Amino acid sequence: MTNLSEKHIVLGLSGGIACYKAAELCRALVKAGATVQVVMTEAAAQFMTPVTMQALSNRPVYVSQWDAREPNNMAHINLGREADAILVAPASADFMAKLLHGRADDLLSLMCLARPLDKVPLLLAPAMNREMWAHPATQRNVAQLRADGTHVLEVGQGDQACGEVGDGRMLEPEEILEDLIAFFQPKVLQGRSVLVSAGPTYEPIDPVRGITNLSSGKMGFAIARAAREAGAQVTLVAGPVSLATPRGVQRVNVRSAREMQEAVMAAVPSAQVFVATAAVADWRPDQAADQKIKKDGSGQTPTLRFTENPDILAGVAQSERAQSGALFCVGFAAESHDLLNHAKAKRERKGVPLLVGNIGPATFGQDDNALLLVDAQGAKELPHASKLELARLLVQDIARRLAV
Ligand code: CTP
Repeated sequence: MTNLSEKHIVLGLSGGIACYKAAELCRALVKAGATVQVVMTEAAAQFMTPVTMQALSNRPVYVSQWDAREPNNMAHINLGREADAILVAPASADFMAKLLHGRADDLLSLMCLARPLDKVPLLLAPAMNREMWAHPATQRNVAQLRADGTHVLEVGQGDQACGEVGDGRMLEPEEILEDLIAFFQPKVLQGRSVLVSAGPTYEPIDPVRGITNLSSGKMGFAIARAAREAGAQVTLVAGPVSLATPRGVQRVNVRSAREMQEAVMAAVPSAQVFVATAAVADWRPDQAADQKIKKDGSGQTPTLRFTENPDILAGVAQSERAQSGALFCVGFAAESHDLLNHAKAKRERKGVPLLVGNIGPATFGQDDNALLLVDAQGAKELPHASKLELARLLVQDIARRLAV
C-alpha cells in the first residue's frame, strides 16, 4: 500500500524555469503509486521536453488541443474525466491569470475549465519571480482562485533562478508530494488543535555526556503528520532527533524532560488533543557537572545519583482542561513484554482515556509497528503496518472519540 496507489494524477506544466523540478515531481508521484498523465503548455515545452516527461510518466504526453490521437479528438474532456486530481506544477503567473478568467486557448487551461468541479480537484503549485508573486494582480488572482475552489499551494522562499531572493519559488517536489498526499486524506480533525510529544529526552551528566534512550521519534512524527493531514493545527514538541518536520506542523525542539514539560504545558491551553509518544527519561542525574568529568588515574569510577523526572502525561491528564473534557489525552506505552497487562495498568495509573501500547525494542528506529489501543472498554489491535498508516488509523480513532 503506497500513499497514492489507485490515484490517477494529471500533471500539468505551464511555462517557467521550475519545469526542471516537474521531472523529479513526476518520478516521485509514480514512486508513490500514482499513474501520471502529463499535459504541457507550449511554453512549458520550451523549458522541459515532452520526451523526458513521457519517459518518466511512461505515457504519451499531450501538448496541443489539436492532438488527434484521441478517437473523439477531445483530449481536454477525456484526460480530465479520468483524473483523481489535476496538479499544475509549475503554475505560472500567466497561467493562473488565465484560469481566473476561464480562458481556454490551450489544452491545459481548456482541460482545467472543462473538468467536473465537484469530482476533479485542481491543485496549483505557483512558481515565479518574487515581484511577480507579490504583485497585487497575482495576489488578487490567487485569492479569487481559492474562492473558486482551486487549491493553491504555498510558494517556497529563497534563491530564485533570476538571482533575486524572496517568495515565489515552486515548492520542492517532495513538499508538493506531501501536500498532495495530505489533500486526499479525510479531514476528520478539521479545526482541531493537536499537541504531540515525540522522541527521546536527553539528560546531561556533564557538558559532553548524557543519558538518553533509543526512541527515534518516528511514531510521534508520523502522528503529527497524520493529524495535520486530517486538518488539525499541530504542535510537535520534539526531543533530540534529526527527523524532518512534517509539512505545516509547528515544531518546538527540546532536550531534557523538564524542557519538554515546559513546552508541553505552554501548548496545553490551546490544545484539544494531547498525544504523548515521547520516551521521556524517567530519571536525570541529580546534578549535571558544569565541566567535563575527568578520569583521575586512580581507576575509581564516578558515582551518579538520580532524581525522578516529572511525569508530563500524568500532569497534563490531571490538569483542569483534561479533567473538564476540553482536552483528550492519549498515552503511549513502550513495553518489552506482557503488553496488554502493562498497558491496562499504565492507562489507569496515568489517568488517561486511551493508552496505545507497543513493544519498544521491536519498533524503536523502525518504519513500521503494531499498536494495541486500550481504553476503559477493552483493547483493540492495529496490526503491523507502516508507522504513517498506523498514525492515520489512530487519528481516525481519536476523531471518532471526539465526535461522541
Ligand atoms: N511519560 C511522560 N513523562 C514521563 C514518563 C512518561 O509524559 N516522565 C509518558 C510517555 O510519553 C508515554 C507514557 O507516559 O505516553 C508512558 O511512558 P512509559 O515510558 O512507557 O512509561 P513510564 O511511566 O515511564 O513507566 P515504566 O517506565 O515504569 O514502564
